[in-house]
Amino acid sequence: MRWKARLARYPAAFWALRKMVRAWRAGRSVLFRGRSFWDEAVVAAEADQPGGWLDLELIEREYIRPRISGDSDTDYLRHFVGRHLEVPVESGLSLGCGGGHVERALLDLGAVGSMRGLDASVESIHLARELAERDGWAHQVEYEVTDLDHVVLPAETYDFVVAKMALHHFSRLEHVYEQVAAALRPGGCFLVNEYVGPDRFQWTERQLQLANQWLDKLPKDLRRCVPQPSIRRPTVEEMKADDPTESVRSSEVLPLLRERFEVVDERPYGGTVLQLLLAATLPAFDLGDSSHQEILRRWCEEEGRLVDSGELPSDFYYVVARKT
Ligand SMILES: C[S@@+](CC[C@H](N)C(=O)[O-])C[C@H]1O[C@@H](n2cnc3c(N)ncnc32)[C@H](O)[C@@H]1O
Repeated sequence: MRWKARLARYPAAFWALRKMVRAWRAGRSVLFRGRSFWDEAVVAAEADQPGGWLDLELIEREYIRPRISGDSDTDYLRHFVGRHLEVPVESGLSLGCGGGHVERALLDLGAVGSMRGLDASVESIHLARELAERDGWAHQVEYEVTDLDHVVLPAETYDFVVAKMALHHFSRLEHVYEQVAAALRPGGCFLVNEYVGPDRFQWTERQLQLANQWLDKLPKDLRRCVPQPSIRRPTVEEMKADDPTESVRSSEVLPLLRERFEVVDERPYGGTVLQLLLAATLPAFDLGDSSHQEILRRWCEEEGRLVDSGELPSDFYYVVARKT
């Protein structure tokens, strides 16, 4: 082709153009796929509609917070700010920010002067901007549609980077970690609150066995949403069709993080059975009914005992790491 022959006379331009085309093609993987799962899901997520085990106040206050902060009134963000930041710090970065509730919560806490939020979902970024405007934070937070698998971050810019339920969606974890390490200021830290269990929800036999045993003991009214004959492992194809980024390399989130950063705080907080159970039963629960509350408490107790004794891994972790 003539343009190729012409460019061949200018090798630097040829290679620069080739690099740009490759980067653009790679970026298409997420950004040009059309409406993503998260374009559809973000409104419900920001409206606090319970979608899974993490959204139940009883579980948050009585199970998750005690495991992370030791106090049912202190959530993971408040705990992180109190322990690891000399507030207010100048600037923070949020990876896979969704509708932006993490950034708004950090600004509400007075933890940081300005935040930057990045996400591949166009709708999420629109909503995050709108909600920041609504809450009066428009001048302190900046949002951008970005495919984090290919992001290039500015060097030594942020006092902290936060990733909440986002890393398990990234295919190029090594690249993301490298960028985060470079983007942190000296002494800066990386806050991770993540699903780290089986890739693409390929539940272990033990998880399925426990979840189905506990379901069998449920009263009939709570079993009405349970898939018949039992909770099963989704196929990889089903997972990819639903959300191609879901848990794509979740089982590698922690090992790669531990290799590349110095972990200064690490709290496993379960979810290994609770996630499966509540995905199957949540709509049937009446959270104001004390007998239903008791069932949730019993599940938390049983899962907690198995995770604490090491009989069951924890599928969810809170981790604070520093660059080495
Ligand atoms: C489970 S949601 C979490 C959103 C938010 N952090 C929260 O806690 O509500 C995962 C987010 O990761 C985003 N995401 C997935 N793959 C991405 C990628 N390659 N680059 C940037 N964002 C991505 C999705 O668009 C979605 O908003």
